[in-house]
Amino acid sequence: MSAFKKTILITGGAGFIGSHVVRLFVNKYPDYKIVNLDKLTYAGNLENLKDIEQKQNYVFERGDILDSAFLQKIFEQYNFDGVIHLAAESHVDRSISNPIEFVVTNVIGTVTLLNAAKHHWNTSLDNKTEGKLFYHVSTDEVYGSLGAEGHFTEETKYDPHSPYSASKASSDHFVRAYYDTFGLPVVISNCSNNYGSHHFPEKLIPLAINNIKNNKPVPVYGKGENVRDWLYVEDHASAIDTIFHKGKVGDTYNVGGNNEWRNIDIVHLLCQIMDKKLGRENGESVKLITFVKDRAGHDLRYAIDSTKLQNDLGWKPSVKPEQGLEKTVDWYLANEEWLNHVTSGAYQKYYEQQYVIR
Ligand code: NAD
Ligand code: TYD
Repeated sequence: MSAFKKTILITGGAGFIGSHVVRLFVNKYPDYKIVNLDKLTYAGNLENLKDIEQKQNYVFERGDILDSAFLQKIFEQYNFDGVIHLAAESHVDRSISNPIEFVVTNVIGTVTLLNAAKHHWNTSLDNKTEGKLFYHVSTDEVYGSLGAEGHFTEETKYDPHSPYSASKASSDHFVRAYYDTFGLPVVISNCSNNYGSHHFPEKLIPLAINNIKNNKPVPVYGKGENVRDWLYVEDHASAIDTIFHKGKVGDTYNVGGNNEWRNIDIVHLLCQIMDKKLGRENGESVKLITFVKDRAGHDLRYAIDSTKLQNDLGWKPSVKPEQGLEKTVDWYLANEEWLNHVTSGAYQKYYEQQYVIR
């Protein structure tokens, strides 16, 4: 008999969003045991969790969601009550250069994890396993691209355009198929673009901050007119907490910040904030903006309608955009070593040696 009320497996907990979810759960629920399973790819980094690694209710397991024998072993060892699945390849540009890697991790990896939960929980259509939950964390990119008007709702038809969004759409379909076919208790959320601390500096916001800091060109794809709906990462973590505890089994929830920005405008704002923080003359960093060739298949606009999550489960975002961006910039400026070590791959090399995949 475990001393803990629940034992939860969080996959991808060393990554950007996963580390915020792990930190929230470990601190907020001392009576839950949190097992972080991560392969530690280039995007996963245990420095992200330094502040909680010694906590009694936290365990790290280095492993691959594609390794079914390993999954079986840890499901038996920990007897998980819930899974929060975030492990994925997450960068659209990488999915354009190497689509197969996205199919393997995001589709086959998710199905391998679904199989482990199905097998261990012994689910069936007649007997919806009480108290268990497989929570799949997904993206709004599965819905495709909006024109100037409208928002994605939970009823919007899937229309993915990039290999990344196609792989996430496929994984969402498999999660629903396991609910319909095998009675696996599942819930899915589809969230808009996140920003905040510990974000790998290949994505727009941390890349722009890093390049502005180092006086390097800030690449803006096309004319910078594409629109993204930015959500502060801690608000996403709190939405995941809400949905994990209150979401209806079999349902989907959209998560978004109601915070749309054209890329060029958010980069301009970052330049202004950085000028102020670095003591540069106002307008100096804007000179670094460089328009480059557009991304292939670049979705024009994403915007989320999160009314269902707000009305049914009572979640709402709490961090205002300017405040969130300023906090993010402050974090990157105070954590220069983190930035240098993730970009050079030094942390990855170090942790690969510390934790050999078993
Ligand atoms: P990330 O790339 O920062 O982190 C992914 C993590 O998964 C890393 O720690 C990596 O080591 C781990 N991982 C990758 N392959 C693995 C494997 N085979 N086995 C075990 N671990 C593996 O990603 P993120 O931005 O934190 O995104 C997390 C999840 O949230 C993803 O599923 C993504 O699709 C989804 N999401 C992201 C955003 C966003 O704006 N970043 C928005 C909505 C949804
Ligand atoms: P990104 O952070 O890669 O997230 P996503 O593609 O999942 O939305 O990109 C956000 C937006 O910024 C997207 O419209 C592409 C654009 N972008 C640039 O203009 N320059 C860049 O260097 C990057 C990485 C992205």
